[in-house]
Amino acid sequence: MFHNVRQFNGYQFLTLSSRKLSRLSEEAQEKAHLRSGRSKNIETRRPNLHLRGMVFELHSLSLRVNGVEKTLDIEARVSLLDALRDHLHLTGTKKGCNQGACGACTVLVDGERINSCLALAMQYEGREIRTIEGLANGELHPLQQAFIEHDGFQCGYCTPGQICSAVGMLFEFAAGAPSAVTKEGGKLELTDAELRERMSGNLCRCGAYVGIREAILQAQEVMAR
Ligand code: FES
Ligand code: FES
Repeated sequence: MFHNVRQFNGYQFLTLSSRKLSRLSEEAQEKAHLRSGRSKNIETRRPNLHLRGMVFELHSLSLRVNGVEKTLDIEARVSLLDALRDHLHLTGTKKGCNQGACGACTVLVDGERINSCLALAMQYEGREIRTIEGLANGELHPLQQAFIEHDGFQCGYCTPGQICSAVGMLFEFAAGAPSAVTKEGGKLELTDAELRERMSGNLCRCGAYVGIREAILQAQEVMAR
């Protein structure tokens, strides 16, 4: 069952993926709670398997997501992405590369876009987090509507990240924030070069870039009214 087992000094050590580790941790936490009724510090033990010195400590954390206060008990190492998906079951935010390269996990924090796979959930206590589930307000957000009208997706996996990123990008643009291709002293215009540069952190493996471009330009107009 475990493939990456190494022997050292009579002990067996495992290399586990974070998903496996968190599953193991949850299992062990349940056992620890059953044993002590209150302790949150636990050590896992299994036949032939000693995870020596591995202590899982839970921290109580309050996150404000889509206008609702949520409390959760998590380890300090849990990313904001995993907290949203695995603990709060907001699976609209997607996990692509899990290393900051694809933008699938983009969410808005206090209106600014971030890659939630690179952020620790513990850092975002008291901040206003908005995910794709919280963008519509009675009716679809102009960007959601525009993505539908312009076929801004194919499989849709990158779409929540594209939309959240575009929301943040349009606010940055409206606030006059320059990008790497903005000419000094020139008029700020959302040219194709600007759009490409500003959305370059969001990859679409289906190549739906033509529709994505049109959707963002339409939404910019709608949001400016
Ligand atoms: S999953 Fe976060 S950038 Fe790819
Ligand atoms: S629509 Fe499939 S990855 Fe973008």
